[in-house]
This record gives sequence, C-alpha cells and structure tokens, in this order.
Amino acid sequence: MISIVFQSFPSHFSGTLVVSAFEGRVLSVSARKVDTHLHGALTRALGVQAFSGKAREICTILAPAPDIDQVIVVGLGQEDACITRTLEEAGRQFFAQVRAKEAVVFLDPLPSIAQPALAFAEGALLRSWRFTKYRTTKPEESPLRITSLTFAVEDVVAAERAFAPLLQRAQGVFAAQDLVSEPANILYPESFALRAQEELAPLGVRVEILDGAQLKKIGMGALLGVAQGSTREPRVVVLEWKGPGAQGAPIAFAGKGLTFDSGGIDLKPQKGMEEMIHDMAGAAVVFGFMKTLALRKAPVHTVGILGLAENMPSGSAQRPGDIVKTLSGKTVHVLNTDAEGRLVLADILWYTCDRFNPRILIDLATLTGAISVALGSEFAGLFANDDTLADHLLSCGIATGEKLWRLPMTKNFDKDIDTDVADVKNLGTSGEGGSITAAQFLKRFLKEPVSWAHLDIAGTSWTRKTTPLMEKGATGFGVRLLDTFIQQHGEC
Ligand code: BES
Ligand code: MN
Ligand code: ZN
Repeated sequence: MISIVFQSFPSHFSGTLVVSAFEGRVLSVSARKVDTHLHGALTRALGVQAFSGKAREICTILAPAPDIDQVIVVGLGQEDACITRTLEEAGRQFFAQVRAKEAVVFLDPLPSIAQPALAFAEGALLRSWRFTKYRTTKPEESPLRITSLTFAVEDVVAAERAFAPLLQRAQGVFAAQDLVSEPANILYPESFALRAQEELAPLGVRVEILDGAQLKKIGMGALLGVAQGSTREPRVVVLEWKGPGAQGAPIAFAGKGLTFDSGGIDLKPQKGMEEMIHDMAGAAVVFGFMKTLALRKAPVHTVGILGLAENMPSGSAQRPGDIVKTLSGKTVHVLNTDAEGRLVLADILWYTCDRFNPRILIDLATLTGAISVALGSEFAGLFANDDTLADHLLSCGIATGEKLWRLPMTKNFDKDIDTDVADVKNLGTSGEGGSITAAQFLKRFLKEPVSWAHLDIAGTSWTRKTTPLMEKGATGFGVRLLDTFIQQHGEC
C-alpha cells in the first residue's frame, strides 16, 4: 500500500511535482506558480506536446531545473465539469502511468470540489493494489513505482480528517480483493470463516460461525445439498456491526461465497474453470464492507451473512434431479447442479429475514454468466422489489463508478421456475433471461415485505487485463458502492 501524506505548501520545489491543467491547456493556480518558478518552461513544454488538458491526459516534463526531476501535468478536462470521479480516475491513471518513487502533488480547490486532493489520493491508492503473496521471487520492485505521495494543502488537519474514511474504505476494498484472489486450496469455507474471526472480531464486529452440523440442525437443506460433494464442510458466517448510537432493525447484506464452483455433476467446461476460485466475491465484498464500517466506526446497525460452500462433483455430490428442502420449508427441484449460488442464497436470505427482520436486505452474488452476456463488465445487474431502494443504489453506482443497471422482474419470469414435482426449480424452462429467472428464484426466499435488492456481480468482480484504471484480477466491486449507500441512506 502506498503512503499518503498531507503537508502545508513547501517553501521550495524539488523532486517530482504534480500539477493540473484544464482543457485548452489552462494551467491551474499551482501550475502557474510552478511555471513562474521555471521561467515559463511549463507553458513552453506543453506547447510542443500533444496535451490539451482533457481528462486523463498526462504530460511529463523532464528535469526542467536543477532541483526538479520532473513536472507531471495532469489533465482534468473542463473545470466546471470536474467531479470527484474525474479526480479519482486522474489519480488512478497517474499511478499506472507515472514513473517516480515519490511525488509532491498540488491540486487547487475547484468550484465544485473543495478538496480535490482527497479523490486523487483515493484513486492512486486504490490503483496501487496488487496480489503478489504467492510469488517467492517477488517482481523486481521498480524504483519507479510510486510508494509515497505528498499532497500540499491549505489545512493539513482538515485534509487528514477528511481522508481517514477514504483510507478505511480502501482497506475494505483491499480486503475484498485479497480474499477474491486467494486460491481455493487456501481459502475454503472453514478458512474463510476463520479469517472473519481473526480480522473482523478484533475491530468490534460480532462474528458467529455456523458449521455443517449446526446448518443441518436448523435445516439449510439447499446450502447443504450444494456442499455435499466436497470434502470441505460449508459454513455460514454471521457478522454484526452495531455502531455508536445505532438502534432499531438492521440493514442486512448477504454474500454468495462459493470458494470454488466446479459446476458439480453438471461440471463446467475446462476453459476458464480456474476463475471459479472467485465465485465467493459476493461474500468477500460483504466482508470488506463490514471491515470498512468497523474501521470508521460507522453509526449504523448492519448484519452481513456469508454463505460459504464448495461445489464439487463426487460420489456424494448432489445429482441433477434431486429435490432438496430449504430452510424456508419450500422444496427445490435441482435441475442443474451448476445453478448452485441461488440454492445457497435461498437459505441465507430466508435465514436473514427470519432472524433479523432487516429493514433493507441487499445481496451480492456472482450469480449468472448471463449477466455479462447482457451487460458486459462495466455494469453489474440490479434487481429490486423497491423502486426507491433501486434508485438510491443506481445513484451510488454513478458516484463511485461501480455502476449498476436495473433489470425487470415480472410474473411471467417468475412462472418460468414453476414445476410440478416441487415448489420451485433452480432453472428456467425457457432458457431465456437467465439472470432474471435467477433473481426471481431468490425473491421466493424473502419474507416480504422486506425492501430487497440483488446485485449480480458475475461480470464485474474480476478483470482479465490490466488497464490504466484497474490492475487485472479482483476488483472489489461493491465495497465503495455499499459504503456510499450506507452513508447516504443508513447512518443515524
Ligand atoms: N458462478 C456461476 C456464474 C458465473 C459464471 C460467474 C461466469 C462468473 C463468471 C454460477 O454458479 C453458474 O454456474 N451459473 C450458471 C447458471 C446456469 C446453470 C443456469 C451459468 O451462468 O451458466
Ligand atoms: Mn455454478
Ligand atoms: Zn457459482
């Protein structure tokens, strides 16, 4: 993790300096100061480079003076169109592109953003994540990779105070990314649950772990059916955070936690099967989000429920055609053992409603491949039984860049999962609208009228290639979205 420091304005310029400019090569106030200090070198250099000041353009001016190694000019686009996202993305791009070990950053207050340094710092910090834990020969630590950023600000104490919750949120994102990255031989239901115990309990989160025997006793037949082909026992983890002053019914978050999804007897094809170590991203996001709440001592009452299991084919595995009894009492005809996420969620959604009677319930799951067919990897699927909740989540998605797109739920889609032999089947008859029928299945295991949203994050939880905005691998998609949501709509 890179270190972020806030300081008052330095009395002289040295090393690597970062300043901003707006579209049309309009230098910011600080950039003009640096330019004056350099006798106009900045203006001259920009004049002979392909740099116009558009958002995400970056220009490097090398060694313009004896003490100054380089000046980096970061484009921010039109000044009045500059939003927090613009700065966050500029910070990400800067981290990915600029070669320096440390730098001093000068970002002046904007009409719309009083402390632009905060969002830029957050972007750089988030972009710095990578997962190198299992390399015994570490990648040559480049002397030109940012390790520390110093921001020159008017009021150091105010900046530090305002940055604290962003840092705590980044720690939640990193926790989720780290978990999603772990292979399934290391992270399985039992070890995942222990990690919650070790990492979250010391922060004041109440951690309760239900093992296989307890799940059997209470009757989570659907979750147990999924887990029965694996030698790894399933777990359900209940996380509870009650912040200072928080009272009343909690807001609940449920996460699909398949530490590996082979498909079971309906085995997945070989190509890409290794990616199914990430099928616990929903649970990881709930974990990271609860970590953030605890770190920043958020004044909310939340519960996080993780449904942890491994879906494997074996002599003891669930068969296509099996009928299982869920915790709710409803029976399910299991037509495809690879549609296992909804079976796990059926039991934990019911459990959450029954035990906590939450005022809002949001689940996150890498539920269907069909969601990336529909939406690609830029948007996660949003399903909800409450328009106000859906609208709130959509706007938090825009604010954080963790964007959502709402899909419909209707009676006809619901009918598609009716069957004669049980109360419901885990596969639609038509084969159409696979992400929607999956959501309809989940809806049958709520105790309505709870206000509910389901986020299908199968397309957004990891990426296959590195971009200026994101390192390849786990994205932690959802942690910042939920944190923004709870700040705006949940805190007392
Ligand atoms: N975990 C998968 C969904 C998935 C696929 C996530 C690809 C990320 C990338 C889920 O359990 C699954 O296998 N869904 C099936 C459902 C089908 C059998 C109805 C799918 O999407 O193919
Ligand atoms: Mn599956
Ligand atoms: Zn799955």
